Amino acid sequence: MSKDLNIDWSNLGFSYIKTDYRYISHWKDGKWDDGILTQDNMVTISEASTSLHYGQECFEGLKAYRRKDGKIQLFRPDQNANRMANTCKRILMPEVPVEKFIDACKQVVKANEAYVAPYGTGATLYLRPYVIGVGNNIGVKAAPEYIFSVFCVPVGPYFKGGMTPVNFVVSDYDRAAPNGTGNIKVGGNYAASLLPHEIAAKQNFADCIYLDPATHTKIDEVGSANFIGITKDNKVITPKSPSILPSITRRSLIHLAKEYLHLETEEREVFIDNLDEFKEAGACGTAAVISPIGGIQYKDKFHVFYSETQAGPIIKELYETLIGIQFGDIKAPEGWIYEI
Ligand code: PLP
Ligand code: COI
Repeated sequence: MSKDLNIDWSNLGFSYIKTDYRYISHWKDGKWDDGILTQDNMVTISEASTSLHYGQECFEGLKAYRRKDGKIQLFRPDQNANRMANTCKRILMPEVPVEKFIDACKQVVKANEAYVAPYGTGATLYLRPYVIGVGNNIGVKAAPEYIFSVFCVPVGPYFKGGMTPVNFVVSDYDRAAPNGTGNIKVGGNYAASLLPHEIAAKQNFADCIYLDPATHTKIDEVGSANFIGITKDNKVITPKSPSILPSITRRSLIHLAKEYLHLETEEREVFIDNLDEFKEAGACGTAAVISPIGGIQYKDKFHVFYSETQAGPIIKELYETLIGIQFGDIKAPEGWIYEI
């Protein structure tokens, strides 16, 4: 597209920029309407909406990538659609059908094509689908009406370091309860994370690590990303816990580690007292991609992995393979890529 946006693509961070169009669809009387694209970035809802008072809302995050040939592609949007459906079920919201979710994402990318960064800049178009309970209600019960919307923002790296390692501190707070909502993507988990994040940031850490809320002995999450560790014998380890958000990036990396890099992988408990078993570590997610973890502060001990200034070789290889697939330079496993 020829529109001149005056965006410094290579120096984008992760901040809101108003793009031209967003998709919005309403659910009423048991069904979703067809949805429209609108230029209005304001959402007007009843003061008695469940999303405002009782946290009946959820969101997703996925990206559109510009390939070398100029075409645009989405990475595994069906997986985000399925996870959002799971989230909706848990908090009694109507599910958005997978086809409707993917169609909305495609419409938003097409309508905002000028905001998909040129290939080679490293920037992407981040899509933010969400569902909110709306309509008039005051008791603690499911809303009478819902809105499903998707907007988009051009973004660069989530953690300032990009592929330079960043440090984390273990928080005393929990983001979710053992049988609560840690495994779904509801706003409440993120509201719970604001204070611990601020405490970590004030101490110059990129974010905090959450331990499992039941025993506080095992790594659950790395801020808004999953943990990935490489053992001294080159095994790729990710934590197993019922209160972790099932990261699509993590699942993809496990597949790539096995099938592309021929490494052993294991999903199991990761004890915070046993960080010595890892020679490399990273935080993985849509926004984070893979951010190498330099070190982790736990109580009065600072544990350094590979290096505080350089990513380790396996984390680097996993990163290159993942972004190679996302930007269309490496052949993707069947069904991972949706061309716009
Ligand atoms: N964990 C949390 C708490 C997150 O918010 C995210 C981001 O979506 C992730 C992990 C990573 O998940 P994904 O790779 O699906 O983006
Ligand atoms: C994502 O990676 O999509 C996230 O949800 C992380 C954060 C921006 C909330």
